[in-house]
Amino acid sequence: MKKNLLLWLFLSILSWKGNGQAPYEKLSLDKGWRFFKGDIPFPTVKGHRESYNNAKAANALGAASANFNDKTWQSITLPHDWAVEGEFDKNENVSQGYRKRGIGWYRRQFKLDATDKGKYIEIQFDGIATHATIWLNGILIHRNFCGYTSMYLDITALAKYGDEVNTLAVRVDADTQEGWWYEGAGIYRHTWLLKRSPLHVATDGVYAQPVKYENTWKLPVEITLENSGASTTNANIEVSVLDTQGKRLASQSTQNEVGILKKGVVNLNLSVDNPTLWTLENPYLYQVKTIVKQANVIVDSVVTNCGFRTIRFDADSGFFLNEKNIKIQGVCNHQDHAGVGVAVPESIIEFRLRKLKEMGVNAYRCSHHPPSVEFLDLCDKMGIMVMDENRNFNISSEYMNQLRWMVRRDRNHPSIILWSVFNEEPMQGSEQGYEMVRRMNAEVKSLDNTRPVTAAMNGGLFASKNVSQAVDVVGFNYQMQSYDRFHKENPTMKLTSSEDVSAFQVRGEYKTDKAKNIMDAYDSERAIWGATHRNAWKAIAERPFLAGAFVWTGFDYRGEPTPFTWPSASSFFGAMDLCGFPKTAFYIHQAQWIKDKPIINIAPHWNWVDSLGKSIKVMVMSNADSLKLLLNGKMIAGQKVDKYDMNTFSVPFQKGKLEAVGYKNGKEVSRTKVETSDEPFAVQLIPDRLFLNADGQDAMPITVKVIDKKGREVPTAQNLIQFKIKGSGKIIGVGNGNPNSHELEKVNQRSLFNGLAQVIIQADEDTNTIELVASTEGLKPFSLRIPLRKATIMPYVKVINPVIELNEWHISAFSDNKPNPTQEIAENDMNSWLPTKSSQLQAFTEGKYALLRTSFSLNDNLKNRKLVFKNLIGKAEFWLDNQLIFKKDTHESTTISIPFNGQNKNYKLVVLIETEKNQRAGLGGLVTIE
Ligand code: GAL
Repeated sequence: MKKNLLLWLFLSILSWKGNGQAPYEKLSLDKGWRFFKGDIPFPTVKGHRESYNNAKAANALGAASANFNDKTWQSITLPHDWAVEGEFDKNENVSQGYRKRGIGWYRRQFKLDATDKGKYIEIQFDGIATHATIWLNGILIHRNFCGYTSMYLDITALAKYGDEVNTLAVRVDADTQEGWWYEGAGIYRHTWLLKRSPLHVATDGVYAQPVKYENTWKLPVEITLENSGASTTNANIEVSVLDTQGKRLASQSTQNEVGILKKGVVNLNLSVDNPTLWTLENPYLYQVKTIVKQANVIVDSVVTNCGFRTIRFDADSGFFLNEKNIKIQGVCNHQDHAGVGVAVPESIIEFRLRKLKEMGVNAYRCSHHPPSVEFLDLCDKMGIMVMDENRNFNISSEYMNQLRWMVRRDRNHPSIILWSVFNEEPMQGSEQGYEMVRRMNAEVKSLDNTRPVTAAMNGGLFASKNVSQAVDVVGFNYQMQSYDRFHKENPTMKLTSSEDVSAFQVRGEYKTDKAKNIMDAYDSERAIWGATHRNAWKAIAERPFLAGAFVWTGFDYRGEPTPFTWPSASSFFGAMDLCGFPKTAFYIHQAQWIKDKPIINIAPHWNWVDSLGKSIKVMVMSNADSLKLLLNGKMIAGQKVDKYDMNTFSVPFQKGKLEAVGYKNGKEVSRTKVETSDEPFAVQLIPDRLFLNADGQDAMPITVKVIDKKGREVPTAQNLIQFKIKGSGKIIGVGNGNPNSHELEKVNQRSLFNGLAQVIIQADEDTNTIELVASTEGLKPFSLRIPLRKATIMPYVKVINPVIELNEWHISAFSDNKPNPTQEIAENDMNSWLPTKSSQLQAFTEGKYALLRTSFSLNDNLKNRKLVFKNLIGKAEFWLDNQLIFKKDTHESTTISIPFNGQNKNYKLVVLIETEKNQRAGLGGLVTIE
């Protein structure tokens, strides 16, 4: 083994390119999966032999086994959410958006280079909804009980190298629910394969979070090393901080000895002078580069980001970022988006965060579970603060592991300002709840003491023992009536809203019709426990002791169509709909939250041709001081702006143009209009960006509209639009934000809903311009060309054709007389035949004959199959289900290929080997079914 290690070190040096990259690989494992929707029950285990075998490692049965035939399964690329592919069904759970979830299976085969042997190998799943069981090569390697936590699976000891194939099998149980919102189904986040040196930095093993002491900045860095090798190693650890230009600002190094299969923790403390701060306007990120050297050779390198910022909550004056008093203008959100469910590409997450920033949002609550890493990286980069929330309120070991994982994974993100340990738990007002949170808080602090812990409470606040006494910042869910009393009774407690509003709007609707599940978009409808957007904010804005708001919600999401049920399938709470199209609430928040630029917007549209002369309620959202309203150029009203309530007018409808003009200090600062349009004339497509990156991942939403002859959009249009796509891209989903729609989401057509629909396209890996054509009967079609930019394709684990490998064999005793190949083994005889593998020659010292035996099953009836034996040595007879199917008459090593017609059944395969005594013979290579 020592030799192996030296060889590995030598190869590492050879592969070391001297370009700052360490011999370390993180490969995407998203491509090349096979998927089966539905369960594949495990075969019943019966009888002594089967029971005995079933209890042994590497012997998983059915679809979990290494040699299961998955050829007929669907080929897919992750991330994948199968629930969003299906239809809406009244009999399914309203909370999951009336989508069937169920059970599904995934399999992926891959090979590892012979030169990978000796490295540390890890498989990572970033998120599987919801319960998952994972096997590698027929060995159960993990069970996961949370749809929002990552799995880091060390497969170093179990992996196969060279010609041999590794098989991952994943059974996903998405019937299990963890939430009361749409959770999707399947492997919906990324999957990775990591290859590292035996001495390496553990996954999530760098904790580097800057801390300010009076006027100096320190960067304490804690590094956890692991040694999967066979000798104790001396590690040299070097950490440096680099700015965005790559300039090194500080560095430090230390040494540590890491024992065999041991962990080692080292601590460094760097000083950084005058760093550029991480702010909301300029979210400056530094890189922390950790290098591990062994005998002067770099064996591992990890780069993490960090941001220099301080956060502080104050019982009287709320929240401070870098000692600047900032009101939190936050939103709560779930993670699903139109068309794609919870398998949301990074570029769509970026689009969503961009829309939120446009709305004036500065904080995001990940309700009610940890988000993806990509999401947090984007918040770091875009300057959005985050409340990172734990899913399960439970202090037993499995659940505490989930909490620990969250903090360890996320604690370097400057965007995170709060850890939330729960949302609305019935135990919140009890001694037990208090004790649980006390323990969870302590656990969080043992991993990160730079951020406060909160819990989102919707009651129990005044109980003699309650959770508010165990957190650092008390989170209020819908406790408007108690803000003042609680503050008065607990003047030293730090307070924030963790959830407020819960108002209902449907985009583009201006008349509530409860019989049709429609809520107007004037901010007049709300849940009984909630408040309108305007009232909720007013209550928070006027109380300096409250750190801020977290509006329920920024975007609509599937499920929870409160206050309705079927046919409504998604929520009404969002300031934006499921596609990210703004509702009136979006503009209300813009007017309330955005200070540095003029905001003005009018609701509703001006297409009320059936209501000529009738009064229309008009709402203007503006951050000006005063407003004027003009109808067809004539001033019809003027008002002082109410910064919380906004301004409403009653305007008799006349066709034409309704304008709103905003003034500050008597000067016009903003102007907007709505205009009556004519009949639809043409379709229009508006891309979110002018290009896509040809990396196979980049995706973008395209807005679909219809316009009249004069190019004015028709806000009432509901046309069904058809899409055709050519070139290097595909449509990955469609939507229109109608919570009552049951149209399918993975198709090439969508109706407009109140004038808008969205089609999401994703780039392939080559650069043929995409052409997307949108058409509908009677209107002029639109053709959009989107160029693709050459882009780096993330390195990935090579996709191989599915192989059935017959690896597991038993060998009989050696004999001098020819044994009977059709002999049965007694049911209870576990010891006279010994387990062996293919690619393992036998030394025939005790006789010239031996039988090798295995079994396999095929779950299809494919004719023209082949049994292939590589490098078989010795004379041999091949018996399939007690029939002689082939004879090899020579001794030398050859590859034998035996055709047979496959059937959906179990097979017994016996190979009789004959050789000279004291020769080595047998299965010299892999045995496969092709
Ligand atoms: C809260 C809950 C949210 C959502 C919301 C709807 O009680 O925390 O998840 O259900 O109500 O108003």
